[in-house]
Amino acid sequence: MQRQDVVFSGMRPTGRLHLGNYWGALKSWVALQDRFSCFFSIVDWHMLTTGYSDTSKLRDNVSEMTLDWLAAGLDPAKCVIFRQSDVPEHAELALMLGMVTPLSSVENNPTWKEQLQELSKTKAGLAAEGGQTRYEENKQGANYELRTYGFLGYPVLQAADILLYHGNKVPVGQDQLPHLELSREIARKFNKAFGEIFAEPQPLLTPTPRVPGLDGRKMSKSYGNSIEIYESPASLETKVKGMYTDPGRKKATDPGRPEPCAENPPGCTAYAMHKLYADESFVKARGEACRAGEIGCMACKKELLCEMSGPFDEFRRRRDAYAAEGGVERILAEGALKARAVAGKTMDEVRKAMRLR
Ligand code: TRP
Ligand code: SF4
Repeated sequence: MQRQDVVFSGMRPTGRLHLGNYWGALKSWVALQDRFSCFFSIVDWHMLTTGYSDTSKLRDNVSEMTLDWLAAGLDPAKCVIFRQSDVPEHAELALMLGMVTPLSSVENNPTWKEQLQELSKTKAGLAAEGGQTRYEENKQGANYELRTYGFLGYPVLQAADILLYHGNKVPVGQDQLPHLELSREIARKFNKAFGEIFAEPQPLLTPTPRVPGLDGRKMSKSYGNSIEIYESPASLETKVKGMYTDPGRKKATDPGRPEPCAENPPGCTAYAMHKLYADESFVKARGEACRAGEIGCMACKKELLCEMSGPFDEFRRRRDAYAAEGGVERILAEGALKARAVAGKTMDEVRKAMRLR
């Protein structure tokens, strides 16, 4: 049976999102909702695979992230927005897919190995085992096991997310390619065992511009160098004023180095932001003026703030409107209904193919 294209993507609920998340993912999702049948999921079960020892913020983080999705322009009338744990079929399909997933495939998953190391590196007081650090310390100071069945099964659950909706286009970043490769392998293995049910999901690599943080490093929540999607006008102004520029520039007439280069390795963050918010001809002229020492950083940043203010007003307006309506829970409930209608059908096919029914 020839099926329609379906887009599926998910994000772990880490709380409020920043401009890196917007330019790296959300912006492309917003464009996709006009072209395809789209499912976007807040994958709270995936969050548990590493964060199970402290779930106190989980619910709030789901709401905050959902509001940021809405602020960015995802429209519940155009796409299905839902919380993974509201659709138990994800767990059922993950269990079934686990039956055909070779242990070697999950054990050799490079993302798993890297994540395990990354997560362990960040915390102190660790016990090393088998060359790999195995425990993470939670906020209460207790060590907890990271090499769990749940964490190892992360990509199996991810495959279930996608296949449950017959998703064949998956907008993700480069870092997710190994996971997606595994989703394809799992789909093939399932089809081989039980008949052609699933299409192999393909990555939809979206062009992701560089989004440096306030200090010139990559924008990241853990670096504390972010501009949030829901930034107040006052704090946006403070952040723009404090952006890293070119430390070699003392006066407005000193020649500047806006682009990353040997003398200014990170490049000017304000310049990188102009590239995102202003048109090409402005950026070109600004680069030349900066290199010639014809514009001061204060004036340059003032213009940047103007460019950014329009889009941020729009984010704020949408977010406040949804939050005031008490909209998040209602939108998630409606999204779950739509998701379950599709997921239920797929599970009927799966159970039938497996002769469980
Ligand atoms: N693993 C993804 C991430 O960390 C999140 C995710 C879960 C996902 N399920 C998915 C992404 C399904 C795409 C499709 O970013
Ligand atoms: Fe950056 Fe603008 Fe200053 Fe040049 S003038 S270094 S682009 S802030």
